Amino acid sequence: MIELGSQGPVIECRSLTKRYGDVVAVDGISFTLERGTVTGFLGPNGAGKTTALRLLLGLAEPTSGGALVFGRRYRELEQPLRRVGAVLESGDYHPSRNGRDHLRVLALAAEIPPARVEEVLELVGLGRAATRRVRTYSLGMRQRLGVAAALLGDPELLILDEPANGLDPAGVRWLRTFLRDLAAAGRTVLVSSHLLAEVAQTVDQVLIIDHGRLLAQGPLNELTNADKTLEDIYLELTGSESR
Ligand SMILES: Nc1ncnc2c1ncn2[C@@H]1O[C@H](COP(=O)(O)OP(=O)(O)O)[C@@H](O)[C@H]1O
Ligand SMILES: [Mg+2]
Repeated sequence: MIELGSQGPVIECRSLTKRYGDVVAVDGISFTLERGTVTGFLGPNGAGKTTALRLLLGLAEPTSGGALVFGRRYRELEQPLRRVGAVLESGDYHPSRNGRDHLRVLALAAEIPPARVEEVLELVGLGRAATRRVRTYSLGMRQRLGVAAALLGDPELLILDEPANGLDPAGVRWLRTFLRDLAAAGRTVLVSSHLLAEVAQTVDQVLIIDHGRLLAQGPLNELTNADKTLEDIYLELTGSESR
């Protein structure tokens, strides 16, 4: 089904702002993301990344401004799980359930056939761990389980909040390849990180945020050059060298 606005940007934020009392967690950020791109949403801890993603997903209300996905507010999307997959925090598991059952419960609720559970288990490399209780999973395995859950609806847009946290080097490499493959298949990915190395080699473009403000945005090859790496730019802009 083609929804209105499906030809426009996948994500559009306009002057998106969120205050919590005196804290301006997200301070008037504006950007658009086009289909088939992998975008790194970069900034130090407390920069406002998670808050911005929560606003995008309708999990928090903006104080002002707004965010659209596929031309609509997230809550107005038909079949949102089939359009947007998101992993915000690794947490919500029934600890004594195994990985497969965890996904089956989610699939059932979203009317997604159980065969898709087996597909996503393989996609994230949890096939062999599918019958183990989630309680026994490492942090990295839980991250993969979160990604598997987000992929259940075969969404066009994938939003991952710090997915590399808890991954070992092999896991980080897996994540990079995985994100590139998704983009090659025409999916759009927005991935946040407070660490550059994890995502710098994967993304087409970056959004750099600190203190709620968007400090830089653009394609990697336009922001960086022989004299300036992404790391130089990030540290210059965020001053996180001294933190
Ligand atoms: N629910 C909340 N209530 C009050 N302050 C919040 C809340 N969520 C986030 N904040 C504050 O907003 C700022 C941005 O936080 P966050 O979006 O979690 O940053 P990041 O994900 O980049 O680490 C921080 O100062 C944080 O303490
Ligand atoms: Mg965060």
